[in-house]
Amino acid sequence: MTTSSPAPRHIAVVMDGNGRWAAKRGRPRSLGHKAGLKALRKIVEHCAKLGVAELTVFAFSSENWNRPKQEVSSLMDLFMRALDKETRQLHENGVKLRFIGELTVFNPELQQRIRNAEECTRENQRMTLNVAANYGGRWDITQAAQALARACEQGKMRAEDINEAVFAHHLMLAEEAEPDLFIRTGGEMRISNFLLWQAAYSEFYFSPELWPDFTPQCLDAAIADFALRERRFGRTGEQIQDQAR
Ligand code: IPE
Ligand code: IPE
Ligand code: MG
Repeated sequence: MTTSSPAPRHIAVVMDGNGRWAAKRGRPRSLGHKAGLKALRKIVEHCAKLGVAELTVFAFSSENWNRPKQEVSSLMDLFMRALDKETRQLHENGVKLRFIGELTVFNPELQQRIRNAEECTRENQRMTLNVAANYGGRWDITQAAQALARACEQGKMRAEDINEAVFAHHLMLAEEAEPDLFIRTGGEMRISNFLLWQAAYSEFYFSPELWPDFTPQCLDAAIADFALRERRFGRTGEQIQDQAR
């Protein structure tokens, strides 16, 4: 007998496959990103309905700047246009919006809109949507190391005071529970520099669906699969089953 996992509290998603979705239709990649935004809207609503507390989505990686200029600028345009409109909708649905990543490189207007969106939804408690933009797991770990090194330089802490909990406190999503379920759509089976530290014990689920085709039913299938996993965290299956008895 295997014990089943309780519903995931925190789901992380690498929303991959927008470009291929558009290419299959002979359309520009930017159209795939628009379709991706639509898919995200539905998944957020569905998560809120299911009572998922936290959803963290990879929208733009620190490596995505290496794409053709035109694609990068169409993505920035899409972020700009989407922010105000989506924020209103999210706010009405009680969703708190947060951005994680190195945001200072975005143009000042986009940064302002991001701050406004976060401020507007700050008190919402139904669910949190974390959007990773210009995010990289290695960047996240590096910026935490810098913050700790600075604190040591300033005499506020000693190197011996740094342990895993202290380190995690300086990462993005510090106050959140780590992702229980880590989904990647689009068929690739890699992390692509998403939540490297935070996903240490996430359950991975790879879907062949391209992100614009990933429906709430696809999410239900991922959650059903998750429910069958036995999360052992280093212990034995017997220990886990004894605990469940
Ligand atoms: C993911 O879809 C969205 C972003 C990276 C912004 P892709 O644009 O990577 O789509 P594919 O993988 O090329 O199909
Ligand atoms: C990961 O997808 C980043 C996002 C979904 C935002 P990529 O398409 O950039 O990843 P690789 O290049 O295939 O690893
Ligand atoms: Mg991709």
